[in-house]
Amino acid sequence: MRGERQPRRWDHSSILSWLREENEERLVELWEVADTKRQKCVGNEIHLRGLIEISNSCRRSCLYCGIRAPRTDLPRYRMSASEILACVDEAHSRGYGTVVLQSGEDPGITADWLAGLIQSIKRKTPLAVTLSLGERSYEELARWREAGADRYLLRFETSDQSLYAAIHPGPQGAPSHPEDRLAILAQLRELGYEVGSGVLIGIPGQSYASLANDVLLFHELDLDMVGVGPYIAHPDTPLGQGLGAVPRIDDQVPGTELMTHKVLALTRLACPEANIPATTALATVGADRGQLLGLGRGANVVMPCLTPQQYHGHYEIYPGKAEATSGEEWHHSLLAHLHTMGRPPGRGQGPRSHTAQPVS
Ligand code: 5AD
Repeated sequence: MRGERQPRRWDHSSILSWLREENEERLVELWEVADTKRQKCVGNEIHLRGLIEISNSCRRSCLYCGIRAPRTDLPRYRMSASEILACVDEAHSRGYGTVVLQSGEDPGITADWLAGLIQSIKRKTPLAVTLSLGERSYEELARWREAGADRYLLRFETSDQSLYAAIHPGPQGAPSHPEDRLAILAQLRELGYEVGSGVLIGIPGQSYASLANDVLLFHELDLDMVGVGPYIAHPDTPLGQGLGAVPRIDDQVPGTELMTHKVLALTRLACPEANIPATTALATVGADRGQLLGLGRGANVVMPCLTPQQYHGHYEIYPGKAEATSGEEWHHSLLAHLHTMGRPPGRGQGPRSHTAQPVS
């Protein structure tokens, strides 16, 4: 009986039964299998990626997101190149190996401007550059890759077609499909980026069965990076106000710390060599403890936030995010925790994934 519960049989029903598992003793098996796999496949180091939220302008209207375009009450900002480079210096001096430039889907971030910035970062530092800027054109992605960008993150959010269409309207309310983002992930792969994706856990309308499909899709896509985090309701969004045409379902997934840990562990089994962060959203629902536990349940990356204080409140994709993983003090306490856990901070960019191709 016990043997059957081992997630060696890798199929939808075994993932589903782990997602539904509530027995703490049996869950310990899942944590142990995931932690052993993590140690064997990516080692003990925790890679630190400095997150810089370069703009909160966004042309999209995702029903769950606090920086969605229709929020007219939210002050918008776009950091200047010199402000961003100051954050990059901070990442370098703290010993991080990567900077992640993240923003809303902001057309004001032009191909040329960002290419110049990536080149400056590459000239000044040995850091890897990860981009997380939403759905951008093939030409833009190609230009940034040529300029030296190494990795790109674009979550597909959910593989459930009708749920995706309900929470993620296309431009001017046009219908949208998870395939739109999957096509971009394929382009990123073709361009030689290391490719990252992921999902929200506990979005209203998300069933256990669809979350199990998401984990299977991580495996199918052979992702280099996978970010998963709990959905956190934002009161100034339609989903946060209980609006939106999301399907009402009986087996709604909860957006809890425990559910996030289960998905982290299953993700490690789905993509053994991937870089998997214990995300800021996990730190927001589970505090530092939830995030550190995640590092023992499959995760091997933390993304400390380097966005200047004055912009914190404005990059509020969900409430409570602002201070979760930022500041010098938090950085030092993270290093102390990692030391206690016997998980040294990684040096340099971290291992290059098995599938990504260098630029020719
Ligand atoms: N709760 C949790 N995560 C969110 N994101 C956007 N809105 C929320 C929310 N309300 C996540 C999305 C996006 C990432 C940058 O932030 O998954 O891909």
